[in-house]
Amino acid sequence: MNIVVIGAGYVGLTAACCLANAGHRVTCIENNESKLKLLNQGISPIQEKGIDQLLKQGLASGKLSFVSSLPKPIETDTVIMITVGTPSLPSGAADLSSIYQVAAELKNAIQYPLILIMKSTVPPGTGVKLVQRYFENTPISYVANPEFLREERAIEDWYHPSRIVIGAADNKIAEKVRQLYSDIDAPVIITDITSAETIKYAANAFLVTKISFINEIANLCETMSANIDDVAKGIGLDTRIGPDFLRAGLGYGGSCFPKDARALDFAALNKGYDLRLLKVTIEVNTKQRILAVHKLKQLLGGLAGKEIALLGLAFKPDTDDIRESPSIDIAYLLYEEGAKLRVYDPTAMQNARPLLPSEVTFATDIYSATVGANAIILVTEWQEFIHADWQTIKKQMNQPYLILDGRNALAQDKLMALGFKYVGVGRRL
Ligand SMILES: NC(=O)c1ccc[n+]([C@@H]2O[C@H](COP(=O)([O-])OP(=O)(O)OC[C@H]3O[C@@H](n4cnc5c(N)ncnc54)[C@H](O)[C@@H]3O)[C@@H](O)[C@H]2O)c1
Repeated sequence: MNIVVIGAGYVGLTAACCLANAGHRVTCIENNESKLKLLNQGISPIQEKGIDQLLKQGLASGKLSFVSSLPKPIETDTVIMITVGTPSLPSGAADLSSIYQVAAELKNAIQYPLILIMKSTVPPGTGVKLVQRYFENTPISYVANPEFLREERAIEDWYHPSRIVIGAADNKIAEKVRQLYSDIDAPVIITDITSAETIKYAANAFLVTKISFINEIANLCETMSANIDDVAKGIGLDTRIGPDFLRAGLGYGGSCFPKDARALDFAALNKGYDLRLLKVTIEVNTKQRILAVHKLKQLLGGLAGKEIALLGLAFKPDTDDIRESPSIDIAYLLYEEGAKLRVYDPTAMQNARPLLPSEVTFATDIYSATVGANAIILVTEWQEFIHADWQTIKKQMNQPYLILDGRNALAQDKLMALGFKYVGVGRRL
């Protein structure tokens, strides 16, 4: 098939590379000049396992190309896939301006029947509105086909998704879209457009609720002297609950969960329904970052002038993405309290630098970050941190040798035996 992918970000670039790898002819449109330049040189602007190889293969085979604007004319039987960003507006609503811009362009550019696939995450009801506003009486068949891939394992998730959701007004069109994924073995759910959009948001709302739930239980464990590791294991073995997303910590961040939770909350309110559970979930997530700083403040007897090493800036390990990362809020809160902050992350330093105050020191590794530190706060559970030489780190730190393990990722007993004062999230001391 001829496929045009609009937007070469995490979702678009993954889709373009994998679809080209499946033998389709893919033209990917990216309007950011510096990204486009890199892509045409075979360099991925995002960090994803396996993407560099697929990108180079696609370019070399001639199946994959990158351009800055829609090809003219768009050939008949082309499938168009929209993968542009849908960030948050200040209200919390999804910012659909990039979607509208693309829709307006397409409306004027298309003469032959084609399928338009929405892979970007858009609030329930958006597809139907887009069709009414832009595509009625055009040869465009609109399909909602939300994406569920996770950053840092995007390629793996593309080939092994838990399900493929296709929302279309016409079953024949849905079947055509299903053929696009013929090289993928996964359950396919075919539904109407709005239900497909709702599946994506409901899935993310459920996952963030699970995260905030376990964080609340972890906070409860601290007040009851119970141990969250045992509690999470004990409830996760119930197959109705399951063990995933029961890791207590500093809460969720990243490019999807926070904005999608807020966007669904806003979309529901806009329709007159108050999603109370989701609101509290969002509030608990914000509180979790604040609580960590309060804990440090209490344990250090104040933060002014204290040397603190913050480990991890990416919102999760194995990515350089810092969007809505808890580390940014925590760094600011510590800075505002007068702490002297040194930060380190294996990949996300460049992305984080413009977002943090200029007084924050960017260290070159975990060891230089922790020299003279009174306390360490671990925000992202990189393997590099878990397997660091903690004995060496202890020797170069200052009293009270405090570690706040914000992800319950470090070996508590081992660190305590080395003389650290260890505090986790909901872990018994
Ligand atoms: N990142 C994820 O893990 C993930 C997972 C599932 C769903 N999603 C959803 O997929 C969508 C895309 O997310 P992302 O993380 O890939 O975003 P992103 O910001 O990484 O990428 C979007 C890309 O689109 C480009 N772009 C914007 N407008 C354009 C235009 N008019 N023409 C050409 N290019 C344009 C941008 O320059 C950018 O490179 C969002 O709606 C997101 O919620 C993301």
